[in-house]
Amino acid sequence: MAKSKFEYVRLFEADDRCLPNTWIVIRVDGKGFHKFSTEHEYEKPNDIKALSLMNRAATSVMEEFKDVCLAYGQSDEYSFVFRKETQAYSRRSAKLSTNVCSLFTSAFVYYWNEHFPTSKPRYPPVFDGRTVLYPSNQNIRDYLSWRQADCHINNLYNTTFWALILKGGLTPAEAENKLKGTLSGDKNEILFSQFGLNYNTEPEMLRKGTVLVRRKVPVALPNGGTREKSQIVQEHVDIIGDEFWNTNSHLLTVT
Ligand code: GTP
Ligand code: MG
Repeated sequence: MAKSKFEYVRLFEADDRCLPNTWIVIRVDGKGFHKFSTEHEYEKPNDIKALSLMNRAATSVMEEFKDVCLAYGQSDEYSFVFRKETQAYSRRSAKLSTNVCSLFTSAFVYYWNEHFPTSKPRYPPVFDGRTVLYPSNQNIRDYLSWRQADCHINNLYNTTFWALILKGGLTPAEAENKLKGTLSGDKNEILFSQFGLNYNTEPEMLRKGTVLVRRKVPVALPNGGTREKSQIVQEHVDIIGDEFWNTNSHLLTVT
């Protein structure tokens, strides 16, 4: 069939394919979750139900996008790392980020009830999404280290801030003042000496965030034997040091 005279407008669509042979990270982040968490009565400083819901939504993304080899989440954000050589959507940046972001958001709502059984979302949650490229293995490791360091810094601050308010009776302004200029050692000391809390024994999911990876796990067969099956598992481990990457060297190897 002859093309219509309007066909030429297609040429206005920019080619946004990501550079070959680079790590593609799609990061989603909750829009205005300071307000969303308050409106939905998230526990302070951390709400395990809310973080578990984030992990469930991210698992849906990994189930759908097989080329995501690792995801890392904390607070209201999740990063999805696509294999360097992925050909998903011909590596088109907007296709990747909008599909990941849209699936993450709909899964967040779809599974809401499993984590908050007694309430409905009061308004539709929104997540933004962006694509960032990292050329080297060191770059992608540094990116993930940056997000996990952010998790640590924020969580130590928030844990101390809310202990001062909820257990110490300070106002938010007083707590903020008390923490101004403190280093991490000072915050650990406040938690321990004033509230008997050893920060290092706080749950790892809160201190380290969540890593999602695929692992072969044995599943039971009807005849009594087992077979290995690839499953998406949650781990709350350090990804800044070398140990994780030495044990999981396949993640950074082009296959
Ligand atoms: P934009 O992302 O710029 O739209 O703003 P934002 O309000 O979402 O802030 P940001 O993404 O920087 O930070 C996330 C915010 O979500 C935190 O500052 C908290 O207020 C809130 N939040 C995330 N997780 C929890 C939680 O487990 N408990 C509580 N109480 N709040 C949380
Ligand atoms: Mg946010």
